[in-house]
Amino acid sequence: MSGRSYDVAVVGATGAVGGEVVRILDERLFPIGDLRLFASLESVGIGVEVGGRELGVEPLGPRAFAGIDLAFFCAGAAVSAEYAPQAVAAGAVVVDTSARFRTDPLVPLVVPEVNAAALACREGGIVASPTGATIALVVALGPIAGAAGLCRVVASTYEAVSGAGKRGIETLSRETVNVLNMRSPSGEEDEAVFAHRIAFNCIPQVDELLADGSTREEEAVIAGTRKVLGLDALPLAITCVRVPTFYGSAVALTVETERALAPDEARAVLRAAPGIILCEAGDEMPYPTCADVGGTDAVYVGRVRADPAQPHGLQLWVALDNVRKGAALNAVQIAEILTRES
Ligand SMILES: NC(=O)c1ccc[n+]([C@@H]2O[C@H](COP(=O)([O-])OP(=O)(O)OC[C@H]3O[C@@H](n4cnc5c(N)ncnc54)[C@H](OP(=O)(O)O)[C@@H]3O)[C@@H](O)[C@H]2O)c1
Repeated sequence: MSGRSYDVAVVGATGAVGGEVVRILDERLFPIGDLRLFASLESVGIGVEVGGRELGVEPLGPRAFAGIDLAFFCAGAAVSAEYAPQAVAAGAVVVDTSARFRTDPLVPLVVPEVNAAALACREGGIVASPTGATIALVVALGPIAGAAGLCRVVASTYEAVSGAGKRGIETLSRETVNVLNMRSPSGEEDEAVFAHRIAFNCIPQVDELLADGSTREEEAVIAGTRKVLGLDALPLAITCVRVPTFYGSAVALTVETERALAPDEARAVLRAAPGIILCEAGDEMPYPTCADVGGTDAVYVGRVRADPAQPHGLQLWVALDNVRKGAALNAVQIAEILTRES
């Protein structure tokens, strides 16, 4: 990194992703000058602990980004739509974790292990980070695409409730306690976070249902995977499922490659790939579970095997901490590259 320090803003600092961004900046000794934390009006004045000191949460407003070099947006698409352009106008570079700019052709969508080069083609001041499921997919698919090309991808995701933010976490906690106490899972007055009860359940709907029977999350994973891999026409069929885990999401992945890639060769490629921990038979962790990957930084890949249904087919199981590598760490890694370039 260059020797200078950066004045940084984290918007959504009291949330699942924003809180993790703050912790990761501290853990990785990001060269921060001034750090400013923003959230909704309900959190203004709350103290957030950062490296042993407490910082107060501020409201967003017209002068919020004066002097800020780098702004992490972790407060949802509506807040990004309104305030990210203001941050850029004030001279900041924005790393946005929301859906707002992901499909904008002028905004790079970046997973550093796969397409860091896209940062060099940036035309504006905004860089977007994909959904956690997209990050799991592209980190695993990128090396396979490089080694053997991709014809077709079929995947089912198993997505933790923290993917729906702190209200998702609270909902699973509350419903679990209620069910175990023989009460109705959710109180009448609760605003629903999920389409159905999530405690002791799996819901084949993440985000909004669309008219064609797919969901907003499936649409985002398909568009994001194509954009990050630079494969605009890659055929993908995705089913996204919300599962009752707190942290840690997984993907069951079936890949058809252009050229034959034996499971041993695929394992060698994945073992050497950046950001991946390959789990193999005989290892202490022969395959990763969602609970194993919570609080970790890597994308874990296991159960690499031939797909018996097609000649150039592979099957894999991929897992990651959706809040860390699936959002906050990815955003900080993007910022680290940007600071190296400046
Ligand atoms: N969670 C994941 O696994 C994940 C993965 C990839 C991407 N993302 C994306 O990351 C973003 C944040 O998600 P999250 O899971 O961290 O959600 P969250 O836990 O609900 O946190 C939302 C944050 O935004 C703040 N906020 C809400 N409305 C605001 C407003 N009007 N002005 C300023 N701040 C406001 C909240 O402040 P208060 O505390 O005051 O309400 C809170 O700090 C979303 O766009 C999400 O799609 C999440």
